[in-house]
Amino acid sequence: MREQVVKVNISMLSACPMQRKLIAGNWKMFGRRSESEALLKSVAAFVSSSRYSAEVLVCPPFTLIPLAADFLHGTSIAIGGQDCSHKDEGAFTGDISSSMLKEAGCAYVILGHSERRQYHGETDQMVRSKAQSALEAGLIPIVCVGETLKERESGTAEKTVTAQLQAALPQGNGAVVAYEPVWAIGTVKTTSLQDIADMNACIHRIVVSGVGVLYGGSVKASNAEDILAIYGVDGALVGGASLKADEFCAIIAAAGSV
Ligand code: PGA
Repeated sequence: MREQVVKVNISMLSACPMQRKLIAGNWKMFGRRSESEALLKSVAAFVSSSRYSAEVLVCPPFTLIPLAADFLHGTSIAIGGQDCSHKDEGAFTGDISSSMLKEAGCAYVILGHSERRQYHGETDQMVRSKAQSALEAGLIPIVCVGETLKERESGTAEKTVTAQLQAALPQGNGAVVAYEPVWAIGTVKTTSLQDIADMNACIHRIVVSGVGVLYGGSVKASNAEDILAIYGVDGALVGGASLKADEFCAIIAAAGSV
């Protein structure tokens, strides 16, 4: 893997990164049964026949979780949900609880994604209670944070992300953070490697030691190696590119070989 010439804040050296990089595919609201079967088959075949050391996670829409559980049974690929309720059960039409995700075969759940914040009015406080409930159910919450373009341009990106982390992270250990600049999601724009390294250092200063920090926002085969080589980047949350088997497998490969 290429060495990155990015300046790392010295306080990062005490950070304890995850042992293996986590490559997580966020399918969002995409996927019909037949195309999803083909995608899962290709990724599973690649992961089981290769010697790549990354931990691989797919987060399909709720309806495809049982299909993923069937297809991925016996593989090392984990499954995650894209949201969960803060309640375990009750009269909450349309919601899915963390224990239901767990029962369906999930090990992770993405929480506080900027699309949930934007289209469903999710606040940091809501994200924190969902994350707490995920931990109680035995799921690993992936808590998403990130600044808007306006915040980046006005120099308040670190302030925004710090405030989100302080309000949204659950108590103690067990969560993973995904830093996703809102303006880099689903676009052709990617943050500079130096900006990712700086924000990563900022996040590691806030979170407890051992919390992994992923980067997300237009990660693809062509930039994955550079991004994943940044010190303290513990993996990637991949949207669009996780729907194409060749792209997703190339990102897994970029995470390093054993
Ligand atoms: P993208 O999405 O890779 O398509 O930018 C990332 C995400 O939304 O998690």
